[in-house]
Amino acid sequence: MTTIIRNGTIVTADLTTKADVRIENGVITEIGQNLTGGTELDATGCYVMPGGIDPHTHLEMPFMGTYSADDFESGTRAALAGGTTMVVDFVLPGQGQGLMDAAQMWHNKSGRAHCDYSYHMAITWWGEKVWEDMEASVKAGMTSFKHFMAYKGALMVNDDEMFQSFRRVGDLGGIAMVHAENGDVVAELTARLLAEGNTGPEGHAYSRPPQVEGEAANRAIMIADMAGVPLYVVHTSCEDSHEAIRRARQQGKRVWGEPLIQHLVLDESEYFHPDWDHAARRVMSPPFRNKQHQDSLWAGLQSGSLSCVATDHCAFTTDQKRYGVGDFSKIPNGTGGLQDRLPVLWAQGVNTGRLTPNEFVAVTSTNIAKILNMYPKKGAVLVGADADLVVWDPEKTGVVSAATQQSAIDYNVFEGQKLKGMPRYTLTRGRVAVEDGAMKPQEGWGQFTPRAPRPAVNRALSQWKELTAPRPVKRSGIPATGV
Ligand code: URP
Ligand code: ZN
Ligand code: ZN
Ligand code: ZN
Repeated sequence: MTTIIRNGTIVTADLTTKADVRIENGVITEIGQNLTGGTELDATGCYVMPGGIDPHTHLEMPFMGTYSADDFESGTRAALAGGTTMVVDFVLPGQGQGLMDAAQMWHNKSGRAHCDYSYHMAITWWGEKVWEDMEASVKAGMTSFKHFMAYKGALMVNDDEMFQSFRRVGDLGGIAMVHAENGDVVAELTARLLAEGNTGPEGHAYSRPPQVEGEAANRAIMIADMAGVPLYVVHTSCEDSHEAIRRARQQGKRVWGEPLIQHLVLDESEYFHPDWDHAARRVMSPPFRNKQHQDSLWAGLQSGSLSCVATDHCAFTTDQKRYGVGDFSKIPNGTGGLQDRLPVLWAQGVNTGRLTPNEFVAVTSTNIAKILNMYPKKGAVLVGADADLVVWDPEKTGVVSAATQQSAIDYNVFEGQKLKGMPRYTLTRGRVAVEDGAMKPQEGWGQFTPRAPRPAVNRALSQWKELTAPRPVKRSGIPATGV
């Protein structure tokens, strides 16, 4: 099976060059001029880029009394339609459930995936069993561990648990991740808002101001520093948490921030929409913010203080959202975006001049592959890399519409957004899954991508910890104890 992508311009995170690409058995085997032989894909006028990697999805996730509506079948189909060729989903153990039991449940679900996938492990409770299972998780290729600082009474872990877990992650060569919101304060604000009659979706936004995120991000950064572990802050939505990340990075701490496409382009006015459904469909945590916060996130991507753009794809139907009629705290938290992340970021980032095409590749694919330690197998156009590629037509136009989307839900939070720049072809390990808008996915094609621990960063951090570890002072004259 040989495929040649001809006449395109290869755009990677650090290079733009006109060349053809030869693909054999799912892997890039040659990059050069005038390549021939095999099936030819015409990339005239197009950019040949690493397929998108979405580092943050929740497919068929049990959450808030229901399951997210997109599973690995519809979710990865949506991904491919928008040029994303890999998703990293979160294994979410139930209370008391072993990590590897939960991972098996995720493997059972992901068998239907159309594109490759990997997993983060969530630390949803704490105990000796979890501590032990973390090593098995790393050995099985799940080396990043998410901690929820919010969702009190459900997924939230406390600081002492987080510190112990972070130390364990550091020892194992993994990455600690946090959902940074102060869950105690959110719970207090929620109770007060409901008691005062603020029961609509706008109450969700009031209950989670930027301060709860900034405080938690800063706390997690300091705890990670004390534990000697690199930290990845998921869904960074505001200047308050971005500021904490930016400062940490300037101080030499190994910290990464991940804005979502939703937070970059949608704002808090959505929650004040007179239509309850419209507002509730946009309920997610953290909530959408105002223009100043959006500008901060864009600046972070431009300057490098924020590293990658994700979706946190966790889609619920309108019927599911209606669980929260009369009580916003019961609206399932989450929005979709798998199909829209690349085209919307291109339209609002590249076409506006805020990002170069190379920066676009960095934040949608390459940086993610590097942070999660799967580069250059993923996130690269290099000989030997997996042929997870998108042939991107910068002139192709469209409009986001729930009527034509792949996702299983009945609306789209980006509805009506004008697109210019969309996939002509999406290839998953060399297989053409999307051709000029026509879907040709294959259920079960996707493979699990295990990820090894990151020795370099972790060794540096642990060496530094060892050098600066507390040591008893040797003294000559010690006074006698007691009276
Ligand atoms: O509202 C959100 N973000 N739902 C998904 C779960 C999470 O917090 O990431
Ligand atoms: Zn979260
Ligand atoms: Zn709207
Ligand atoms: Zn999430």
